[in-house]
Amino acid sequence: MKRVCILFLCAVTILSCCASALCEALPTAMELFSADPAPDVPMRSDPAIDPLTVLVNKEEPLPWDYIPPLVPLEVPHKPGVSTQQMVPDAAEALTRLFAAAESDGISLGVVSGYRSYGTQKSIHARKVAQKGRATAELTSAPPGKSEHQLGLAVDVSSASINYRLNAIFADTAEGQWLEAHCAEFGFIIRYRAEWQKITGYKAEPWHIRYVGPEHARLITSLHVPYEIYMGYLKLCWDARAHLPATPDAARLAADH
Ligand code: DAL
Ligand code: ZN
Repeated sequence: MKRVCILFLCAVTILSCCASALCEALPTAMELFSADPAPDVPMRSDPAIDPLTVLVNKEEPLPWDYIPPLVPLEVPHKPGVSTQQMVPDAAEALTRLFAAAESDGISLGVVSGYRSYGTQKSIHARKVAQKGRATAELTSAPPGKSEHQLGLAVDVSSASINYRLNAIFADTAEGQWLEAHCAEFGFIIRYRAEWQKITGYKAEPWHIRYVGPEHARLITSLHVPYEIYMGYLKLCWDARAHLPATPDAARLAADH
C-alpha cells in the first residue's frame, strides 16, 4: 500500500507539473461523470457504485461473494475451452472487437473470461504449489484480487502461438492488432512490463480489461497504469467538488 501511495504521489506531482496537459485532459475526464461527487463516496473497489471502472488489484480486493451479471461470449474461443462469460457491456464490446479484427484479417480466440472467486482460488493454489508464492503472484492473482472476478477482463490469444498466454503474444500480428485497437472498443492492456512495480504483475499483453471507450482512450493516451488513472480520476472528482456550480460563477471566480 505504502509503495502504491508513494508512486501515486510521484505521479500526482508529475501530473501537477504538466499543468497544460492536465487542463486539456481534466474536462474530458470530468465530463465522464454525470453525478455530483460526494467526497466521502468510496471511489475504489465498490462494484455497486461504478461496476465498469472499479479498481481491483492486490490491495483492493473484491468481496468473495461478488458475482457480476454475466452473458456468454459469442466469439471464437481457444479449441477445447468452454464458452466463457463476461458482463453484458464487455461481451458486446468484445464481439465488436473480434469482428473488427476479423475484417482486418486477424483471428483471435478467447482463453479465459469471468472467473469466480472459487475458480481463481484453485488456479492460484495450483500456481503457488508449482512455482512458490512469490513467483506465482507475479502472474496469478490471489482469490478476490483478480479482475476476472469482475467479469470485465478477458485473456485473448491466437492460433499462431497455439493460444498460449505468453509474452510472445505481444510480437504476433494478433497481439499488435489488439494493442493498437483495443481502446477503440473500451479495453485497456492492463499489465505492462514498465508498470510491474505498480501493478504487481509481469506484462500480460493478452489480458484486456473493459473500462468503456472514454476511459480506455484517455488511459491509453496518458499511458498510465489503471492504479494511477484511478487516483487521477479521484483528483478530478475532488476538484470538481470544489468548483463553483455554474459557468457564470466559475467565470466570476476566475475573474477574481
Ligand atoms: N493473471 C492475472 C493477474 C489474474 O490472475 O487475474
Ligand atoms: Zn487475465
